Amino acid sequence: MTTITVNGTPHAVAADPATPLLYWLRGDLALDGAKYGCGLGQCGSCTVIVEGRAVMSCVVPVGALDGKRVTTLEGLGTAAAPGPMQRAFIAEQAAQCGYCIPGMMMKAQALLDRQPDASDAEIRAALQTNLCRCGTHMRILRAVRRAADEMRGAAPVRVGDAR
Ligand code: FES
Ligand code: FES
Repeated sequence: MTTITVNGTPHAVAADPATPLLYWLRGDLALDGAKYGCGLGQCGSCTVIVEGRAVMSCVVPVGALDGKRVTTLEGLGTAAAPGPMQRAFIAEQAAQCGYCIPGMMMKAQALLDRQPDASDAEIRAALQTNLCRCGTHMRILRAVRRAADEMRGAAPVRVGDAR
């Protein structure tokens, strides 16, 4: 039996091993932060973190993840208690339709976890494979910079505190 730890909680996987991680997260665990966009590994809206690396969950089968740790958007915080990355995106009003935003946050979180002092160029490079049809890229960049500042010890972001 495949066991996958999601946001710190181990789950036995009853689904067929070929089931995409995205389908299992949304369908079996009711974690709907990760979004279905292209289903082909080309848009990034389904991005989650597996063992510290950002992956596109629509193209990773659950059978390949036995014993692995997965973090989803829900693992970054809740609506009532958003984490630093989520607060930064809210403060910068980085979402328009919001469809790409969960994937953007997970990709950025994976980057900052391994590289807290990532430069603008490194943030841009990391997010390049995540597509935003609304064109809110500059706000997304500001939000990631803001989250990085807070994670490095700057004062916590307050919602509505855009700069
Ligand atoms: S839905 Fe997974 S990359 Fe587009
Ligand atoms: S905010 Fe709409 S796709 Fe990015």
